[in-house]
Amino acid sequence: MLKRDYSLLGHNTFGMDVKAAAYVEYASVEELRSLLCSADFVPYRENFLVIGAGSNLLFKGDYDGLILHSTICEKAIVEETDEAVWVRVGSGVCWDDFVAWSVERDLHGAENLSAIPGEVGASAVQNIGAYGAEVCQLIERVEALDLDGQERIFTNEECRYGYRDSIFKHEMRGKYVITYVTYRLKKQGELNLSYGNLRERMKGNSVRDVREAVCAMRASKLPDPALLGNAGSFFKNPVIPRWQYDHLRDVYPSIPCYSVDDEQVKVPAGWLIEQCGWKGRTLGRAAVHEHQALVLVNRGGATGDEVVALAANIVGDVQRKFGIEISPEVNII
Ligand code: EPU
Repeated sequence: MLKRDYSLLGHNTFGMDVKAAAYVEYASVEELRSLLCSADFVPYRENFLVIGAGSNLLFKGDYDGLILHSTICEKAIVEETDEAVWVRVGSGVCWDDFVAWSVERDLHGAENLSAIPGEVGASAVQNIGAYGAEVCQLIERVEALDLDGQERIFTNEECRYGYRDSIFKHEMRGKYVITYVTYRLKKQGELNLSYGNLRERMKGNSVRDVREAVCAMRASKLPDPALLGNAGSFFKNPVIPRWQYDHLRDVYPSIPCYSVDDEQVKVPAGWLIEQCGWKGRTLGRAAVHEHQALVLVNRGGATGDEVVALAANIVGDVQRKFGIEISPEVNII
């Protein structure tokens, strides 16, 4: 059932009080197919947006198209060997419920990605990542419908995963709606404790301990959207050539980096923003989070334009001070 003039306040973690011209949920592939093939969808074929939990979105104003939201919520083991299981998960499942489910069964692979807000469908679009892991390392295939209701299965390779990137943000944008994601989890294996101080936070050596440590680290740095509107990292960490990094290190000896390949490194945007003096600062009703400069927050009643104005000031300062262009990770609509 299409709802008209629908409030999106409960559907975006930035807490923007905006409306969509139309909104619809579907609980199965059949429901989605009949919607896509219905007269209701015709005016919106070129003007729709699929959302998950709205945890990576910033609405600048009312949305004049149709919002689609999956409530396909099954989870089933579809294949199993001595080493691994393949779990097919509906696009509307809360990502962290899936992580909790896998950790309870002592399955390895998703634990470093604990407590990331959002839903399964978006995990496959956004290639969510944290604490040295990315969801593309687990994704076996992605099922979707095209706008005529035809099924298509994308293999992991076809999804062309990169840092917070996939084919669904480029060539396939607006062409497919994801229905299921199949993840491959291992029955045992080494824990991935390579990132930052994760190892020091560990109280034992199980996937459960990783989950606990990651949840504690996230809770200490990242604001709870229920209390303070935000969409996690607002910017991506920029990838720059090593020669540029070496020049910067001569001037700023403490500048951190993660290696990407022989030629490139990734610099934490949070560090760059903090060095520009923005950490904890406010502009109107928008602000930079006091514990993690990569996160912009809505202090209450901020408009999308206020957040965008804050972001533009930050981008300008980082560019002037470091000669690096940082770009949003959040989808600005
Ligand atoms: N840093 C600062 N000041 C800050 C924030 C960070 O100096 O205010 C520096 C510190 O040197 C710190 C380093 O940046 O050691 C890295 O910080 P952190 O571990 O918090 O990670 P991040 O690179 O800022 C990325 C992801 C996060 C993910 C964390 C943990 C992106 C855009 N963000 O942040 O993802 O949780 O790593 O793995 O890659 C998200 O995508 O919404 C998100 C929260």
